[in-house]
Amino acid sequence: MTKFDQAIYVSGLNVSFGAFSVLKNLSWLVNFGEVKGVIGPNGAGKTTLLDALTGKTEYQTGDIVVRGRHNIKDANEPAIARLGLGRKFQKPSIFSGLSVFENLEIALRSGKAILQSINQLSPHEQEKINETAILIGLSDCLGKDAGTLAHGQKQWLEIGMLIVANPAVLLLDEPVAGMNGEERTKTAALIDKLKGPEMAIVVVEHDMQFVETVCDSVTVLHDGQILVEGPMQAVKSNQQVIDVYLGRDSENA
Ligand SMILES: Nc1ncnc2c1ncn2[C@@H]1O[C@H](COP(=O)(O)OP(=O)(O)O)[C@@H](O)[C@H]1O
Ligand SMILES: [Mg+2]
Repeated sequence: MTKFDQAIYVSGLNVSFGAFSVLKNLSWLVNFGEVKGVIGPNGAGKTTLLDALTGKTEYQTGDIVVRGRHNIKDANEPAIARLGLGRKFQKPSIFSGLSVFENLEIALRSGKAILQSINQLSPHEQEKINETAILIGLSDCLGKDAGTLAHGQKQWLEIGMLIVANPAVLLLDEPVAGMNGEERTKTAALIDKLKGPEMAIVVVEHDMQFVETVCDSVTVLHDGQILVEGPMQAVKSNQQVIDVYLGRDSENA
């Protein structure tokens, strides 16, 4: 493995809000080709980690290196997004009044200059949107208002809006929250399809069954630190993990 196999490299990361320390000297690695789960109790710092990775939150000390060569210390959110980090938030942020097609079109063009973006879509761009719609299971809904989609479909549309831009790293914060069993199964299949040697996927989730199905390895965060890391099979039988997280039924129903 070379450092270019590393999608995200985090070293000695500290994030605090005033006197309150949220991430404490965190070191962490996500390789290309890997689907990495991040689990842990509410307040552990999972979302804050994604915030630091995407430039939404400043960090006090430590380094984050993207794709083995870009230290993002001084980069802002748009610059980090251009490095190929795509993030899905806990609540979907789609444009309800626009069609599925238009949502994908906006996402495809968001990185482009205004002059380019007022031109018609090229055949290649059309193809990219159609391909993405098939992948997320919405090819029959391209003309539909996004606001009228079912909850699960909205989540898939948001994932589509990320992948249409060819990201190198996908960060998914609670992708199956609020989904029914069938929708969860479809989302797992989608992640499986997205997986590949040139893609790294980070999944923050409370659904342990889902995490076990889609993730190659899992990081357990607790109180801003990594408690344990490894395949879900091993992690779920770890006594510390059971004590601080899995044993608490209320958080992972
Ligand atoms: N902007 C902020 N200002 C102050 N405290 C914050 C901020 N963002 C997160 N926190 C705190 O950091 C801790 C970790 O939050 P978060 O990363 O959202 O946890 P998780 O996603 O694991 O549930 C929580 O105690 C939360 O209240
Ligand atoms: Mg969170």
